[in-house]
Amino acid sequence: MSKILIIDDEHSILETLEMFFSEKGHYVYKADTGEKGFKLYCRYKPDVVILDIRLPDYNGLDLLKRIQAHEPISKVIMVTAFQDMETTIESMKLGAYDYIHKPLDVDKVEKAVNRALHILEIDRETTLLAEMTKPPNPEVIIGRSDKMRNTFKMIGLLCQNRAPVLIQGETGTGKELIARVIHRNSLFDKEPFVTFDCAAVVESLLESELFGHEKGAFTGATYTKKGKIDLAGNGTLFLDEVGELPKRLQGKFLGFLQRHEHMRVGGHQILKTNCRIIAATNRNISAMVRQGLFREDLFFRLKVVTIQVPPLKDRLSDIPDLVNHFLQKINWELGTDVSNLQKGVLDSLAAHPWPGNVRELENILVEAVVRARSKVILIDEIEDILSANRHVANTGLSTYSLPHMEKEHIEKTLNLLKWNRTQTARRLGISLPTLRSKIEKYKIIPPDKAKF
Ligand SMILES: Nc1ncnc2c1ncn2[C@@H]1O[C@H](COP(=O)(O)OP(=O)(O)OP(=O)(O)O)[C@@H](O)[C@H]1O
Ligand SMILES: [Mg+2]
Repeated sequence: MSKILIIDDEHSILETLEMFFSEKGHYVYKADTGEKGFKLYCRYKPDVVILDIRLPDYNGLDLLKRIQAHEPISKVIMVTAFQDMETTIESMKLGAYDYIHKPLDVDKVEKAVNRALHILEIDRETTLLAEMTKPPNPEVIIGRSDKMRNTFKMIGLLCQNRAPVLIQGETGTGKELIARVIHRNSLFDKEPFVTFDCAAVVESLLESELFGHEKGAFTGATYTKKGKIDLAGNGTLFLDEVGELPKRLQGKFLGFLQRHEHMRVGGHQILKTNCRIIAATNRNISAMVRQGLFREDLFFRLKVVTIQVPPLKDRLSDIPDLVNHFLQKINWELGTDVSNLQKGVLDSLAAHPWPGNVRELENILVEAVVRARSKVILIDEIEDILSANRHVANTGLSTYSLPHMEKEHIEKTLNLLKWNRTQTARRLGISLPTLRSKIEKYKIIPPDKAKF
């Protein structure tokens, strides 16, 4: 049951609309002058005002202004006898909710009123986010769950020394972000932060990328090249996907960790660097040690300090803060102003399984903001996006996604080479461990073992 105020000098209109909306169960107030209308407005604070633009004592636009200045709580629907573009634009600019023409069609008025009431209801159910006045800081870790608080404490301790750190966690949990924050808060934050992704480089190039090479070290080495270790200098070397480091290099890297000395490929000179090593992985390294895929001595050396980043589904209480943070960031970047959530959106988010963790949450919010047609993220929209994501997760991958094509390509090559993994890895230009992890990740099965 809602309150509707009708301000019009035509008595037949007042009577008709009053009868119509009272029958629908609303409270109706009516006024035949602007002055009376404004008094009723102040006294009853109606949900919807139907306001004639031509009144005997008032210009409707002025009354609209006065209402908005007084207390803009209602949705105001303007009524006029003229097809006048300028007054329409003007009244919309002044904050009118809608605009209808005379002669009044009761159906149209009802539709406009119902739309306005629906929006009011959504407005009341939403949570307004804090306003953003400066660009968001990309290097802040959001979270106040106990699990994340422990991580913060650990980061605080680590900032004061150069001990190696191993960050373990599922994809998208924020491992790289944590590494950057550790570096940014350390005593050597002015020194470089260098990233090296062990999975992104072909095995044959890994060694020279990491340790550097001298001119003439191998065919194609036409100049001396610094390795990532040299580039990190006295800063931080972030070794991403450390589980993919081939065994041969694991030994060489261990030597570097122990002595802080290394030699470039084809070089004779011993080079000294003092960079802090932060390694990250989404694989279970101790299981890899048991399977003989990872050197135990290197594992022990790396995991002196381990940060285990919990998956998002184990810290659902972080979701509201993360949503707030990401919406501010997204609005800033896209120039949008989507800052409200319909009630229930957070519950929907909490019910999602989050296989892609925080990165997935951010992506979902970007899509929701782009699709939003007002300042509000609606529960239906979020549900749509989430269920599309669940569908992709269930079927594995969407057909046109890069990972899907990668999976198909690997599968074809494996079948072509009769599942000879060494040859397949060589053909694909990736390392054997990378191939193994991709087989595992995409759950690729040899044809004789596949169930049909
Ligand atoms: N706690 C957090 N607060 C704010 N932003 C976060 C948080 N965790 C992750 N993010 C953001 O989510 C995205 C993914 O994080 P990041 O790249 O650090 O994940 P990752 O663990 O390295 O993932 P992957 O294993 O796939 O490489 C980044 O944009 C990061 O800034
Ligand atoms: Mg990462």
